[in-house]
Amino acid sequence: MNNFDYYNPTRVIFGKDSYNRISEQISEVTKDKKILITYGGGSIKKNGVYDSVIKSLAGYEVFEFSGIEPNPEYNTLMKAVDMVKKENITFVLAVGGGSVIDGTKFIVAASKYEGNPWDVLTQKEGCKFTEAIPFGTVLTLPATGSEMNSGAVISRSELKEKRTMGGPMTFPTFSFLDPTVVSTLPERQIANGITDAFMHTLEQYLTYPSDNLLQERIAEGILSTLIEIAPEVMRDPSNYKAASNLMWCATMALNGTLRAGVAYDWSTHMIGHELTALHDIDHARTLAIVAPNLYKVKFENKKEKLNQYGQRVWGLQENCGEQAIEKTRSFFESLGIKTKISDYTSEFSESPSIIKDRFEERNWDGIGERGDLTPSEAQKIVELSI
Ligand code: NZQ
Ligand code: ZN
Repeated sequence: MNNFDYYNPTRVIFGKDSYNRISEQISEVTKDKKILITYGGGSIKKNGVYDSVIKSLAGYEVFEFSGIEPNPEYNTLMKAVDMVKKENITFVLAVGGGSVIDGTKFIVAASKYEGNPWDVLTQKEGCKFTEAIPFGTVLTLPATGSEMNSGAVISRSELKEKRTMGGPMTFPTFSFLDPTVVSTLPERQIANGITDAFMHTLEQYLTYPSDNLLQERIAEGILSTLIEIAPEVMRDPSNYKAASNLMWCATMALNGTLRAGVAYDWSTHMIGHELTALHDIDHARTLAIVAPNLYKVKFENKKEKLNQYGQRVWGLQENCGEQAIEKTRSFFESLGIKTKISDYTSEFSESPSIIKDRFEERNWDGIGERGDLTPSEAQKIVELSI
């Protein structure tokens, strides 16, 4: 088994009717009674989450920053940074999905940063977030795992860029996970959530055989559970059993557990982020587009694990790697997710070469679990995905 360093300081408070414990959790972090809540385009006002959260914050002076968009925008978030500095905010509560939580991670880190925060996202030499204001989350969309990890993905559409950040200071101190929020999610977001959680698991599993037998079985458990509950949660999002399993799978898929002691890939995400930046395709959908073709192009690298995945997760017979890829694609399609770029846009002709050039500019000349996926292969994967 590979050596590993496993750290996760986020307290998870899971279940129904728990928001009355939010102020108790904040008071463990700060005695200051002034806080900022961040949220998106208003879904929390329609489904009652906003009212419950505000009720739980009685006795606090609450500032609000709304309008964090899906694929959170750098320029929007910088307005929140100004507000945090002006009002001397010492705690932030993010109420929303991955975009609001990711945006909040950027806000809390950029508020403590002296230089130009964009340099951190482009990983300019020597530019790093090293401090952050503490924050907690109330999750409204199970998908990204952002509620229990320290990563964030920030977009800057004027530059058609989508960049990642992270570090030990951007773990939430607590996260409230109430699966009843799933009942108000549009079908599109539930399908996205299932797909994103599925792909987070595959990125840390479909590599090469490891000696960490437990981690492999945990990954297969998450994949099998998602396949089992997907039809029910799509049909009836108010089914608590299905919704709570989706929520816990999504958190477990990206809270650091799966990566302990194994190889991981992430190249589907790296290519997928470019498709969002160029064409504004939902994050999860970019993964469903890229993954099957990436597995074809890197088949030799991944064939043992594809075979194991096909047998253990899909119940196929020996030598089933190619069939396992097709099963994966049809699983996404069964959720209503289209798996070709041309299903989303007609302006794709330049995309493969643009993505190749961007990978070259960033010196991403060997990504994936073996560090051997080249910019030309990324281009080929995108061509196959059209
Ligand atoms: O903005 P509001 O009005 O809240 O509406 C949102 C948004 O339109 C809506 N929504 C959320 N909860 C709802 C709801 N609508 C009804 N009822 C509810 N309970 O759903 C829409 C999408 O929300 P968003 O937060 O964008 O979705 P998701 O959670 O899928 O997050 C996607 C973002 O996370 C990043 C992605 O790149 C993308 O920017 N990721 C973050 C990761 C991380 N931090 O670890 C890893 C992922 O791989 C991913 O890259
Ligand atoms: Zn993802």
